[in-house]
Amino acid sequence: MARRTLIAGNWKMNGLGADGVALAKDVAAGAPAGVELLVCPPATLVARIAAAVAGSAVAVGGQDCHGKASGAHTGDISAEMLADAGAHYVILGHSERRTDHGETDAAVRAKTEAAWRAGLNAIVCIGETLAERDAGRTLSVLEAQLTGSVPSDASADRLVIAYEPVWAIGTGKTPTLDEVDAAHRHIRAVLGRLVSGADAVRILYGGSMKPSNAAELLAIADVDGGLIGGASLKAADFLAIAAAARS
Ligand code: PGA
Repeated sequence: MARRTLIAGNWKMNGLGADGVALAKDVAAGAPAGVELLVCPPATLVARIAAAVAGSAVAVGGQDCHGKASGAHTGDISAEMLADAGAHYVILGHSERRTDHGETDAAVRAKTEAAWRAGLNAIVCIGETLAERDAGRTLSVLEAQLTGSVPSDASADRLVIAYEPVWAIGTGKTPTLDEVDAAHRHIRAVLGRLVSGADAVRILYGGSMKPSNAAELLAIADVDGGLIGGASLKAADFLAIAAAARS
């Protein structure tokens, strides 16, 4: 099954207007053919960046959304608002959201449903902590997170999974290639029980992906792209990862 590689930048809480627009424009100007590129800036920049890269090969996404379309939820943003601002994707259940904001699998599932209601593609993040890996629980943790976070009526076309070991995020550490391979195979197998057309779901790897390790990670059969934090903040690094996906 041919799945189009997706290289997604998660800018996290980084980026003010002029620099963010310049970064997105640089990414758009250097986008290689044959790879789908996505930038997920802070919510304050979604509309500006969507306008700046309109007509290019780069799509724009949010980093979170609320489960409801509107209402009395001070400080939150709905999926409909992201779509209205020009987003086509939203990252959901990132480990920083799960840790900093106590997001549960059930909350991530509700947000995923909200994303689909608004016509967005949902990037659902899962990943084990170091303690869970050391206890030999990685695959069972991933299975539980998937089962809890992916809606029961899921269909493949608007679902992306990001496997991000919590201990690999922002640390410079990555699992071995065999460990990534085993995790992605397991995720694909579990998706087969949860989603019709699971073969079409893209499974991204995230956690300290950078130009020097991207090619070997992206060459793994069930790795269909990357979710990149730190290295997405420099256009040259992000584009080098995209180029590695093609080679
Ligand atoms: P990192 O972050 O690439 O800086 O490790 C990845 C992520 O958290 O999505």
